[in-house]
Amino acid sequence: MQGRFHYYEGYDMKQVTFPVRVMHELGIKTLFVSNASGGMNPEFKIGELMIITDHINFFPEHPLRGKNFPTGPRFPDMHEPYDHALIALADKIAAEKNIRVKHGVYVGVQGPTFETPAEYKMYRILGGDAVGMSTVPEVIVARHSGIRVFGISVITDLGGFDVPVEVSHEEVQEAANSAQPRMTEIFREIIKRS
Ligand code: HPA
Repeated sequence: MQGRFHYYEGYDMKQVTFPVRVMHELGIKTLFVSNASGGMNPEFKIGELMIITDHINFFPEHPLRGKNFPTGPRFPDMHEPYDHALIALADKIAAEKNIRVKHGVYVGVQGPTFETPAEYKMYRILGGDAVGMSTVPEVIVARHSGIRVFGISVITDLGGFDVPVEVSHEEVQEAANSAQPRMTEIFREIIKRS
């Protein structure tokens, strides 16, 4: 995909996740997701890649709300939203290629405001390592459709530390652009080897 539909843009969850439904109909078996996010884990630095190991869904609307779609059960299991074998493969590739990667839990929120200092702190206390405005709805629909998921989050800014700093869309884009080649390299190698 070239970009995605975000909930904050005014699309509803059916629209946000429609591309995943289409890809499922086309027969995809694995979904690669990427995003930009604000790092809350004190070990994270701007521009680093975080392999998403789990997520917390903070969107106000659930993408599977309503009549159950026959691609999966009414109450889907979510014990392994991000495929462990693909995470292990990505770690191996990153080590071979000297690409620094972190692991972490992605908190999905609606935006469009970046978080207040208190919100970053709260999401950290709740178990998040990074927070962003996408990805979780698509991953839920993919898992409900039996699609394996692998995801990378680019840490584009930091929040929740002692001295709050301003976050801008421009700095987010700049950090995302500089990290993209490293992320793409990992995706490319996973595709090659799996
Ligand atoms: N918060 C939410 N979404 C984001 C952030 C953030 O700090 N950075 C990039 N997307």
